[in-house]
This record gives sequence, C-alpha cells and structure tokens, in this order.
Amino acid sequence: MGMTLVRSLFLIIHQKMSTSSSAILTPVGVRGMNVLDRAKFLRNIKIPVLKVADEKLSKITPICKQYFLKLENFKPVQSVSGEKLKCIHMNPEKIGAWTDLSEIDRKSLKEHSVNEDNFIMKDIELSYENWSYGTIFKAVLPENEDIVSGFTQVGHIIHLNLKDHLLQYRPLIGQVLVNKIKSCRTVVNKSSTIDNTYRNFNMEVIAGEENFLVTVKENLCNFTFDFSKVYWNSRLGQEHERILNFLKPGDVLFDVFCGVGPFAIPAVKKKCKVYANDLNPDSFKWLNHNAKTNKLNMALFKSYNLDGKDFILTVFKEYITNYCLGKEKLEKGAKIHVTMNLPAIAVEFLKCYKGLIEDEELLEKFDCEIIVYVYCFAAGTDVLAVAKSMVIDNIGCDISDNIIDIFDVRNVSPKKEMIRVGFKLGKEVIFSAKDCVSEPPKKKLCVDN
Ligand SMILES: C[S@@+](CC[C@H](N)C(=O)[O-])C[C@H]1O[C@@H](n2cnc3c(N)ncnc32)[C@H](O)[C@@H]1O
Ligand SMILES: *[C@@H]1O[C@H](CO)[C@@H](O)[C@H](O)[C@H]1NC(C)=O
Ligand SMILES: *[C@@H]1O[C@H](CO)[C@@H](O)[C@H](O)[C@H]1NC(C)=O
Ligand SMILES: *[C@@H]1O[C@H](CO)[C@@H](O)[C@H](O)[C@H]1NC(C)=O
Repeated sequence: MGMTLVRSLFLIIHQKMSTSSSAILTPVGVRGMNVLDRAKFLRNIKIPVLKVADEKLSKITPICKQYFLKLENFKPVQSVSGEKLKCIHMNPEKIGAWTDLSEIDRKSLKEHSVNEDNFIMKDIELSYENWSYGTIFKAVLPENEDIVSGFTQVGHIIHLNLKDHLLQYRPLIGQVLVNKIKSCRTVVNKSSTIDNTYRNFNMEVIAGEENFLVTVKENLCNFTFDFSKVYWNSRLGQEHERILNFLKPGDVLFDVFCGVGPFAIPAVKKKCKVYANDLNPDSFKWLNHNAKTNKLNMALFKSYNLDGKDFILTVFKEYITNYCLGKEKLEKGAKIHVTMNLPAIAVEFLKCYKGLIEDEELLEKFDCEIIVYVYCFAAGTDVLAVAKSMVIDNIGCDISDNIIDIFDVRNVSPKKEMIRVGFKLGKEVIFSAKDCVSEPPKKKLCVDN
C-alpha cells in the first residue's frame, strides 16, 4: 500500500459561463451525463501554434508562457519529428489570430525573427484524458449552481458532501475524481455532520475500491486506520503540532480522547511519557498499531480503551496520587499535560477533576504543574469569552487566574469556532470538596463538521 499524503482540495465553481468564444476549451454535448461515457468527450479544436527554431526556444518561451495551452497529459511545447522546430501551443480562448498577441509581445517576438509567418492554426483532437476534473464538472453538471464544494482527501480516499441536486451525478463525479486525481482510489459521499459517539463518518462509496484503510503522514509519523470506523481530521494537523511544541522531553501527556494517536504518537517520539485513551475499540486498535509501526519506545507508551471519565478517575488519579506518594517521579521542571479533544462534550469531563483526590495528606506533597488543554465549540460574538465560561462553569471553581491561553483553533461552520482553553489544574481543584465526581457527564449529541 503506497503512502499518500493528506491533501485538502477546495473547489467551488459557479456555473455562470457563457457559450461564447471564451468556452472553446470545453467538451460539448455532455451536459446532464450521469454515468461516465468517455467517448463523448472527444472534441476537435483549432489551436493557435507558433513554430520556432529549436535554438530560439529559450528566448521565446518567456514571452509566450502566458498564452500556453494548459491541458492534462498535454505538453504546450512539442517537437516536430524530423525538423529542428518546436511548436508552441497557445490557448484558443486567448488567441484566435496573430494580432491577439499583445503589441509588446509581438514586438519582442519580432526581435527574435518570429512573426506572423510562424503562426498557424492546427487541428488537434482532445479526449477525456485531456480535460481537468474542473472542466468536466463544468461541462456536465447543471448550470448556474454550485457544483462540488470543499472536498477533502485523506490517504487514498476523497470525501465529499454532495448537495441533493447532485445526487444523481454521484457515479460520474466519483469516477472522474478517481481518474483524475492520481493518489485517489476511493471516493465517498459522507454525511456533513458527525453526531455519533466515536465521531466517525457515515460513508457511501460512490466510486473506486471499497477500501477504507488509509495511511497518512502527520508530524513525521505515519497513521494507519479504517476511516469509516474512527475519527480523523486532516485539518487538525497544525493544532496537533502546536500542542507538540508545548511538550518537552521528560514531560508526561494524558490524552483523554486520543483517537488513533495524532497527539500521543509524536509525543512519545519527543520522549514524553504518554497515557493515551479512547473509548472507540477501533481507535484503540489502530492507536496500538501505529505505536508499533512508528517504532515507539514502548516504555514511554501506555494505551487504554476507557470512557474518558473512568480514565481520569483511575489512570490519571493514580498517577497524581503516586506522584504525591513519591512512587512516580518527574524530572526537574517537567510538566504534566492533559489533552481533551472532544469539542462537543469535553468540558463536561472537567467535572471529574474537582475533588479528584480526597486524601488530604497528599495535598502538601502536590507540587507538580498540570496543564489541561480542553477543546470546545463556541458560537456568539465573543467566542473566547463563551469558551472561558463553559470551562469555569463545568470545573465548578473560578479558575480565571489559572487560564494560560484561549485560542481559536479553527472555524467549523459559519457561526461556530473550535476553541482551545489551556489552564493550570491546581490543588484547589484536585483537592477541593468532592461534589460532582459521582455524576457521570451527560452525553449530549453535538455536531462536528
Ligand atoms: C474529536 S476526536 C479527537 C481524536 C484525536 N485526539 C484527534 O485530535 O484527532 C474525539 C475522540 O474521542 C473519542 N470518544 C468519544 N467519546 C468518548 C468518551 N466518552 N471517552 C473517551 N473517548 C471518547 C472518540 O472515539 C474520538 O476518537
Ligand atoms: C490527451 O491525453 C492523451 C492521454 O494521455 C494523450 O495520449 C494525448 O496525446 C493527449 N492529446 C493531445 C492532443 O495531446
Ligand atoms: C450522499 O449524498 C446524498 C445527497 O446529499 C445524501 O442524501 C446521502 O445521505 C449521502 N450519503 C451519505 C452516506 O451521507
Ligand atoms: C512512514 O512510511 C514511509 C513510507 O511507507 C516510510 O518510508 C517511513 O519510514 C515511515 N515513517 C515512520 C516514522 O515509520
């Protein structure tokens, strides 16, 4: 299985094209096709060509570059067999005659003895292979509508949210993308919202192989997973990197909702001790797989398949308790980090920290620095303030002074931002009177685009 990079592609094409001269370079008679018929894309077109002697090419190319004919599997500059000549193919939508070249360019060409005699019109036959997917979609799909917007590639899978009016074109759209995008072998139509517990997409294969196993690279690590069963968002790569930059060798990371390991795996590579947890058995499986394939030092890596609440109440609590008892040691200056990336409900899990440890004798021994990075979705005019109050309300103490940073990670939908709140988790919370630990966090179903 070849390694493919994560790619994000965005394409919004408005169908406002006229059928005048600007539309020479387009297949004709294919509007409304919903199952790909390659033969219908053949078209003979007259192309302006400039014939120049081989030795002049390097001088002529810079002048003509702006007029080059750009198509797929097509070289704008071609040799002529048996002659010491090059043919420079130009875009017929820009150039119909020698005089369509700008006056300045014609003058420059003449300085190299290239003039109207070198200019010819030549018939060429273009086929399905020579049109880009954008051109094909424009020619086939309904006019005056948004066509295919915002599709994303994860490994060999392209996923798109198709608008209802395009449903009938699924086979064609999928096939064209598989054909035209070299690294794409599967196209899926996924629901635009993720509202299930494991945050994976509901997907329907519209073209290519029924194979959801992908490998992507992020922050110098390889991640393999079944994209239909686990959460992965290629738009989070930078945020993962920002957190990784906060980590130093010797630090400890608790990743409460770790997925397949985009924080956890590279953190181990940075020589942090990592406790990674996810409730989804498939995430857990691929997390462990990725730990192996990235050749992690297993002494630094522990994985769990627990509810986040149980992870905090057992694994995290035990570590802090043992630290206070001197059974866990931290290098001088080393910090403990806790990542909580489940934006729809993570703040509710903050309740677990309040009164986490009851044994007051441990209070005096508590001297470690714990930084929590909790993610949430916020809407409104002041998203940062909204996020801050969500954190404070859920943790149940005013920790305003302990907030380190409130950061707008990304825009999720027109009115929704994903926010990260970083704060120091101190003894006043961990050792405060216990009152909410027994309440399990409510599982609201929220929406993550
Ligand atoms: C938004 S994803 C984040 C995954 C990963 N940290 C990342 O950045 O790509 C949230 C993860 O939380 C997991 N999850 C959902 N509910 C959970 C719970 N109650 N306890 C632990 N994990 C949970 C999901 O399976 C999913 O992998
Ligand atoms: C169009 O693409 C095909 C397939 O790669 C290629 O063989 C052909 O030469 C191209 N057409 C032209 C006119 O170059
Ligand atoms: C695919 O797209 C159509 C049209 O928007 C939608 O009705 C259908 O539910 C989608 N399939 C999936 C699996 O989301
Ligand atoms: C990731 O995969 C590529 C290609 O398979 C491989 O060359 C590279 O060594 C891998 N990297 C790690 C960290 O395993």
